[in-house]
Amino acid sequence: AANRYLRPRGGPVAVVAHRGASSAAPENTLVAQEVARRAGADLIETDVQPSKDGVPFVMHDRTVDRTTNGAGPVRALTSAQLRKLDAGSWFAPHYRGAKVPTLAGQLADLRTRGGRLLLEIKGPHTRAEVARIVKVIRAQRMTGRVFVQSFEVSVLRYARELAPELPLGLLRSSLDADPVGVTKNLRLTAYNPSHGALLARPRIVADLHKAGVAVMPWTADSPSLWKRLDTLGVDAIITNRPAELTGWNDAR
Ligand code: G3P
Ligand code: CA
Repeated sequence: AANRYLRPRGGPVAVVAHRGASSAAPENTLVAQEVARRAGADLIETDVQPSKDGVPFVMHDRTVDRTTNGAGPVRALTSAQLRKLDAGSWFAPHYRGAKVPTLAGQLADLRTRGGRLLLEIKGPHTRAEVARIVKVIRAQRMTGRVFVQSFEVSVLRYARELAPELPLGLLRSSLDADPVGVTKNLRLTAYNPSHGALLARPRIVADLHKAGVAVMPWTADSPSLWKRLDTLGVDAIITNRPAELTGWNDAR
């Protein structure tokens, strides 16, 4: 099947809001998601990991310390404990009371308001934990609007096996010797390197495109980087500044 995440010839680069509109609102909250949606982001990136009782929650760090008023690893807290946390005050007093969303809550919000999710399964997960995430996506009837990415090859293998209908992307801090080979092996829709790694070896964009694989580098926040990545022909740019990237796209 054609890869709908490839950039149409002459079209603008897709805008991916990293942890929601995380420069303007507390990352990985529903308010950050709404700001990103209104800014015209094509995809909203978030990170998911399970609570102690196995409920997938949206949180980037391994612990809740930096972005909430609580403490401890996400995996050591129950869903009841996570639901009580304030995930807004650390960013600005105005956001006091913002919650740590469950994956189900976040998908329900996107389903009613519109939008697509670039869902990063953060850190190692067991097969059962990936299965739980797939179950939530299916229960929310959102398989057509979710793109899964991970740094963990094992997670992508589980996802490929459990949910053949989901597009998958591999996150990389440094490039594989043979990126195309890796994408074939895992039947990936996208290869998502750090912008620094990509700019050091830009020819892989053409190689991946020839293989029908999209390229979505992270996390680029300046117009000078946007220009270099756009010129390379990447399909999407993951940014903390989705409103600014959308404006930059419109002005180009
Ligand atoms: O989407 C790519 C990017 O989110 C990967 O790094 O640490 O922000 O999850 P990190
Ligand atoms: Ca992420």
